[in-house]
Amino acid sequence: MMRPVTPGLESCSKGLLLFLCLVILFWCSQSIDAHNAATHPSEVRALNSIFQQWGTQAVGSWNMSGEPCSGSALNQSDSAFLDPHNNPAIRCDCSFNHATVCHITRLRIYSLDRRGELPEELLDLPFLTVL
Ligand SMILES: *[C@@H]1O[C@H](CO)[C@@H](O)[C@H](O)[C@H]1NC(C)=O
Ligand SMILES: *[C@@H]1O[C@H](CO)[C@@H](O)[C@H](O)[C@H]1NC(C)=O
Repeated sequence: MMRPVTPGLESCSKGLLLFLCLVILFWCSQSIDAHNAATHPSEVRALNSIFQQWGTQAVGSWNMSGEPCSGSALNQSDSAFLDPHNNPAIRCDCSFNHATVCHITRLRIYSLDRRGELPEELLDLPFLTVL
């Protein structure tokens, strides 16, 4: 009796299918991770406190639903960061911890007319390189 060839092919294609599913699942979880990246909690507290002391708050294009690293804060172009309508502005880098954690790397406040001491909370933004 001749053995049918198909069972071998079938299990091979099942294996391939399983492999493809795993690849797709992995890829999906990666992109979900990137999407779910959130600002480090101590930086959220520090930023809110600094803005409170300066009597200002985020513009509508970022800090969407209390998440500072959102909207225009994720735009890596300088023209977005320097846009006069984006004032005060922040920029975040969300590539930390396998793209799950965002750190605030830039903070720009123009024409606030604040004098005096800088808030101590600025020290809680350790990734800040431009102020
Ligand atoms: C961001 O939004 C939350 C509420 O949605 C607010 O409490 C907080 O002060 C805002 N932070 C800044 C920096 O504007
Ligand atoms: C980033 O900002 C620039 C300038 O404001 C804008 O043209 C561009 O569409 C923005 N990019 C994204 C991904 O939102």
